[in-house]
Amino acid sequence: EEEIMARIESMRAKAHLGGGINRIITQHKKGKLTARERLDLLLDPGSFHEYDTFVEHQCTDFGMEKNKIIGDGVVTGHGTINGRRIFVFSQDFTAFGGSLSKMHAQKICKIMDKAVLVGAPVVGLNDSGGARIQEGVDSLAGYADIFQKNVLSSGVVPQISLIMGPCAGGAVYSPALTDFTFMVRDTSYLFVTGPDVVKAVTNEDVTQEELGGAKAHTVKSGVAHNAFENDIEALQRIRDFIDFLPLSNCEQAPTRCTDDPVTREDPSLNHIIPVDSTKAYDVRDVITRLVDDSNFFEIMPDYAKNIVIGFARMGGQTVSIVGNQPLVSSGVLDINSSVKASRFVRFCDAFNIPIITLVDVPGFLPGTAQEHNGIIRHGAKLLYAYAEATVPKITIILRKAYGGAYDVMSSKHLRGDINYAWPTGEIAVMGAKGAVEIIFRHVEGRTQAEKEYIGIYFK
Ligand code: COA
Repeated sequence: EEEIMARIESMRAKAHLGGGINRIITQHKKGKLTARERLDLLLDPGSFHEYDTFVEHQCTDFGMEKNKIIGDGVVTGHGTINGRRIFVFSQDFTAFGGSLSKMHAQKICKIMDKAVLVGAPVVGLNDSGGARIQEGVDSLAGYADIFQKNVLSSGVVPQISLIMGPCAGGAVYSPALTDFTFMVRDTSYLFVTGPDVVKAVTNEDVTQEELGGAKAHTVKSGVAHNAFENDIEALQRIRDFIDFLPLSNCEQAPTRCTDDPVTREDPSLNHIIPVDSTKAYDVRDVITRLVDDSNFFEIMPDYAKNIVIGFARMGGQTVSIVGNQPLVSSGVLDINSSVKASRFVRFCDAFNIPIITLVDVPGFLPGTAQEHNGIIRHGAKLLYAYAEATVPKITIILRKAYGGAYDVMSSKHLRGDINYAWPTGEIAVMGAKGAVEIIFRHVEGRTQAEKEYIGIYFK
């Protein structure tokens, strides 16, 4: 009996080494932690319960029967973050480059199933060379199984992807189907086809980093929701992030104690919005004054900056914030900001998170680029998301609420629960200048007319 136990323990020790010490050294040299080191940082100490430690692949092609690594390139199981259960997988780049085999996929699918069964989020730490080339279609089938589960879990449990190395080809679609995708700067990249294929097809010269690094996806494509400096910071921030979310769609987000009283008054809010509606200000200065401890977890801070989205707490409870950002393009709504905010609103609606909307919007961005790229259908996504959402919706009109954008930004007509206007609020079909130019087109001395038009609203 002791002999059996010793054998199991020796196998476990081997499993903990993944692809071996040399590959671990290479992983560290790249500035990356190993799959298990990452889990140690993500989860509460000692909370990790591993599944399928001893699983190996079953491939017999290309001499693979002689080339096995215990665990098959992914560590899976569950653990806790600040005492709350989550399910995780952490791909091990030291074992077959973290590539996805049939068994590797089955390990991931198992934790996804368990997560839905008990109602707990799934966090995926991605670091993989993609489909296990030796396994061919079996590994492609593995991806499809994961995609199907991503879709069926959507809106049931929160799904979070952290990209900590390569993620290319079909592999990119699992993170894309999850609710939030985060990246690590300089060591992670996502693309459907790599630089070599790009060169062959389009003759473009592009590096991995330019094509699919953190900057490309947090600034240009909007594929990733944020990027962090290194593995350690990224895992710490995921812990903070998970704290804002409920475990499933059947639960409320956790309440966190705060010394910041809900009755706190902040007189600076009286002056923060410039009365002159052409003057810019940073809506994040309003947000941090409204929420507990100025703690605002911004999502997609570098993409479509004309709208600001993120999580915070009020009276200890999670709220989501959507705010037009007058600092960038006067807070105008365009395609990217509509898509950014609509997906966020849908997530919050699915997971019982109240939505607070701060409105200061001059309207939709005019121009052929916007019209021809479909601002109508993309803008409709935001309208749809707000109209559909049944979580508590509180709207504060900080300044401008013009035209169709007034309707879209969680207006009371779209089942807004409480809609406030600040003293600086201006609700109109358009600004005074534009309005006067149309309705008093034939009148001389439009400055007077403009004053009168504004006057109507201040009577
Ligand atoms: N299938 C099987 N093994 C793979 C693999 C895959 N998709 N991707 C990487 N590996 C293996 C490598 O053979 C290597 O094995 P070794 O340690 O026994 O030599 C190990 O993983 C590390 O890969 P390596 O290429 O040395 O790492 P790198 O950091 O220099 O490059 C990649 C990483 C991902 C850019 C590179 O491995 C690659 O291009 N992989 C193939 C990607 C692909 O086309 N995938 C299929 C399409 S989805």
